[in-house]
Parts: sequence; structure tokens; C-alpha cells
Amino acid sequence: MNSPAMQGLQLNTPDFVKHPRLIAWVADMAALCKPAAIHWCDGSQEEYQALCQQLVDAGTFTKLNPAKRPNSFLACSDPSDVARVEDRTYICSARKEDAGPTNNWMEPAEMRATLGPLFDGCMAGRTMYVVPFSMGPLGSHIAHIGIEISDSAYVAVNQRIMTRMGRAVYDVLGVDGAFVPCMHTVGAPLAAGQADVKWPCNKTKYIVHFPETREIWSYGSGYGGNALLGKKCFALRIASTMGRDQGWLAEHMLILGVTNPQGKKYHVAAAFPSACGKTNFSMLVPPEGFAGWKVTTIGDDIAWVKPHSDGKLYAINPEAGYFGVAPGTNYHTNPNCMASLGHDVIFTNVALTDDGDVWWEGMEKDTGTTPDHLIDWQGKDWTPQIARETGAKAAHPNSRFTVAAGNNPALDPAWDDAAGVPIDAFIFGGRRSTTVPLVTEARNWVEGVYMAATMGSETTAAAVGQQGVVRRDPFAMLPFTGYNVSDYFQHWLNMGNKLSAAGAKLPAIYCVNWFRKGADGKFVWPGYGENMRVLKWMIDRLEGTAKGTETGFGVSPTYGEITWDGLDFTPAQFDTVTSLDKADWKQEIALHTELFTQLAYHLPAELAATKVALEQRLAA
Ligand code: OXD
Ligand code: MN
Repeated sequence: MNSPAMQGLQLNTPDFVKHPRLIAWVADMAALCKPAAIHWCDGSQEEYQALCQQLVDAGTFTKLNPAKRPNSFLACSDPSDVARVEDRTYICSARKEDAGPTNNWMEPAEMRATLGPLFDGCMAGRTMYVVPFSMGPLGSHIAHIGIEISDSAYVAVNQRIMTRMGRAVYDVLGVDGAFVPCMHTVGAPLAAGQADVKWPCNKTKYIVHFPETREIWSYGSGYGGNALLGKKCFALRIASTMGRDQGWLAEHMLILGVTNPQGKKYHVAAAFPSACGKTNFSMLVPPEGFAGWKVTTIGDDIAWVKPHSDGKLYAINPEAGYFGVAPGTNYHTNPNCMASLGHDVIFTNVALTDDGDVWWEGMEKDTGTTPDHLIDWQGKDWTPQIARETGAKAAHPNSRFTVAAGNNPALDPAWDDAAGVPIDAFIFGGRRSTTVPLVTEARNWVEGVYMAATMGSETTAAAVGQQGVVRRDPFAMLPFTGYNVSDYFQHWLNMGNKLSAAGAKLPAIYCVNWFRKGADGKFVWPGYGENMRVLKWMIDRLEGTAKGTETGFGVSPTYGEITWDGLDFTPAQFDTVTSLDKADWKQEIALHTELFTQLAYHLPAELAATKVALEQRLAA
């Protein structure tokens, strides 16, 4: 099938694609974007190797030393294209109120009129890749399918790691299965004879979602969540609207399994904003004193959670790989992650060592030394002296690794189970140096939703120049909720009501904060590995063996209820991380009021009422 507008370009649909609507859409997009060629990805290993070699030949990839890092590559992006661009991200629902105050909005017709000319001819001189992917185990009733069209081979190879990508997706789709169309271009058409650059992109960027028609259009960036459209765009923004309409949840949550020495297994899903150790928590290694305990990873970033006929909520990880932040990752903070990165990895924006390996800030904690010389992420010479004099980072702070879940030594055997895993508890955590205690359990679902709705994280000085300002990040979904966030709160409340009306036992909800500081300005809680102690208390609560103590803000552990084996942590230190300060909480409640004022449209009455009750309890 070839439209006249394709002017001789062959669609070359492979015989494994049997879906007329999909083929017609690809033909339309080819007519619009005018690529030089079309490549239908089949997801094979041969295709992956060939595309990686093509990226090496183009200068986008550097092949790493195979003796050190077999089958691994380093890509360095344009310095203007290094992170998700929230201010260029739009939810174009028909009504502005449905995008809500936390999303950028443009009227859909106006956005289509804006994107039309940008996409017209945007792939000239390039190959258009058609990338079929399943978010979730192929054929799982919780999974959904997307087709990404992209003019970036970097996107195609990353998608092969991050999703279940390849021709089996077409078998699931059949002739008329549903898919989310995901259009992506780097926005850098090539004129005849024009040489390409290593990282094509455009300074104009649009990351656009049309929730009613479930479409994604991304223009101008080749990086991360802007370009790997299965992740934040589909699995969170579009999927959250699907969940609202269909009665399930798409959440910015890791999923882990915890097995106690008796072999009983629990599953926990946890939401944290960026820079709160989410990947570390998802790959936690139980510390000394926890012999027989096992923590296994189901997912590190996103959970799709659906109610099942047994009344429980079951979760899958829609992704198949990890796109994690490299700096700060080392054998102290995350040994399982480091073990995952030994082979078959795509690194982006880390530094290159003189022997063809990778390096990033934080690795010196493992080796005790910093390399004498590196090529930094911008291709410049880097030495410790240059770093001291100029502050130059060898790796960009948002540099990443892309690696298959299969590389993780702590991967849960059920990670790919089409049925998902039953969730026993949800955890919500932010980064707060004061106010919020180490751990507290909501006394009921509504209180848990309140805790999640009001969670926040302190910004770091480096990011905004104003240390200690709390950015409210409801459910760690601030940049990812594809609809009005107050309606999203209501959806969570409705879920709870529906499940309990059907007689189900709802998962417990916990609020955690690993980041309380002492009078000396230092973190009091000794590190990510110790979070097992908190996790075990949660399990003890689920088992009914820890009584806890009621505070103004939920149920907290007593000192004696935490297992301290192998750690010297005094009752006074425990008090520093768990105490509730009346003055701090007065201020905190005022900030909740401010948040609720901003979110007043459709804010559930239960949340306002919970705030009043909380205020009264804390003042008592
Ligand atoms: C991510 C993020 O990249 O949350 O996972 O920003
Ligand atoms: Mn994330």
C-alpha cells in the first residue's frame, strides 16, 4: 500500500504485519514526515547488532572495550538535549480543566495546527523506524501495546531493551488489536548531501499527549523520556487516563518482592520522586542481621495495577529494562545495579576512560581513587584538577544506563508473570530534612491517599538555587498524571471504596522519609541498605506482630519494634528521625492548605476533611 504523497517511497510492509489500520497509519505518517526509507523493526538480535553498528559508524555510539564491558556502547547527546523537558510537555485534552493546574495545556486543534508544519518533512534524509512494543508481558490482560514511529536508531535500540519489542507484538495485535500510536522525530531533516551530526535534535521541543484519542507526538528531542515514548508518555501519562476510564492505576512506582526466612512472600509498590533512591530501594540488599530475608525486583520505575476477581490489586512492571541515573550508583549504594551493568548496556552521557570503559561521579567510593584522565560527556578532556578548578562533571548529573531487567541478579522470578503480583502495601516517600517521620502507616485508605497527595521533596541547591524549598509532588506523579490531579485523587479514593465494598482487604499505605537531618545538618538514617529495617517493620505490621504506636500522623514503630541487629542506632537517634514537631507541622499543614487551594477544582471533600482532622490531632 503506497499513498500518492509518498512519492515513490516503498512502504515495504513485512508479511508479519497484518493490521490494515496500523499499516494505513504508517503510510500516513510516512507521507507526512517524508523519510528516505522505512524500517519495520522485528526486534531480533541481528537487527539490534546492526543498528548499534550503524550508530557506531555515525559517531553516535562509541563501542566500549569488550574485555571490560562486552557488547556495550556509550552515546553522548547534544548538550542542549539532556533531560525530560517538563515545560515543553503538554496534555491536550478537549477541556483545559481535564488537564488541570499541574499540566501544560493547549487546545487540541491548535496543537495539531502547531505540530502539522513541524512534522511535515521532518524525517527528510532519514530512516523512519516502526517500533512495535508491548508494555507488560506479551498478551497479559494488564499489558497494552504501542507502536512508536521514530527517525532515531538510538530510540529503536533503547526500546528493544526497555520494552518487549519485536514481531511477536504483531501476533498479539492480530488484524485489529488496539495500539497507542507514538510519533517521534528528532526534528532534524537532512537536505540532499547534508552531513549528519552525532546527536541530531532541534531546539524547538514538544512532548504532546492527546488523552481522548490516546496519541503521543514528540518533536525535537532524542533523549530519555522525551523520546522513549513507552516510558513516561505512554506508561504514565496516557496509561493514567486509560486507568481512570477503565478502573485501574498507572503509577510511578517500583515493585519489589520481600520474602521472609519462613519463605512467606509479600509484594510492595513504592512511589518516590527523582533523587530519592528509588532504583536503590527496588534492588535492596538486606544488611547483616537479616539472614534468610530476600528482596527481589519486579520493577524499578513504573507499576500498572489492576483489581482482580479475588479482590486483590495485581501489579505488573510494564517495562522490560531500566533507564537509570548513573551518578551516585556504586557498590555501596546499589551493588545489584552495578552487577547488572557488566555487559549489554547502552550508556548515555557518562564519561569514557582511557581504556575504553565508563566512569561517573560516585564510582570513586568503590575504588578509592578517581581516574587521572577521562573524556567527559561533552567529549572534552577531564582530569581531577580540571574538576577542582572548573567544577566540570565527568558525567552529566542526568546521565543514564539502559539495561535489560534480565541483567539484574535480584530479578524476581515473577517479574514477567502475565498475571502480575498481588500488592500488599503501597509506600510513598519524599526527601524531607525535617517534619516527616522515618515511617508511618496510614490508619485507613483515605488517610493514605492524603499522605500521598501531599507528599513533597526538598529541592537541592544545585537545581534551583534555593535549598530546602518543598516541591509538592503528589504520588510522585506531578509531571506524569495525564489528567486533572484532583480527579486522580478521586480515582484512588473510588478504587478504595469499590474494593472495600466488595469485601476486599486493601493494601496498607505507608509514608516514608529516609532524609531527616540532625542538628549538625547530616543525615541521621545511615543509608539505603538500612531501609530493610523499615521494610521489615511494615511486613511485621502486615503479619500483625508489630503493634506500632498511634501518632498525630498515622501509626509509627516503637524503637523496640525495629530490628537493629548489625547496626548501632540509639533511641535518641531514632527519636530524631521519628519525632513530630508541633511548629514544623503547623507550617506543613499551611503548605497543604496552599496545595489544596491550587487544586481546589474537583478536590475530593474527603481530603479536605482529612486535613482538618489531622490538624486537630497534631495540635492536641
Ligand atoms: C525517571 C524520572 O527518569 O522519574 O525515571 O525522571
Ligand atoms: Mn521515574
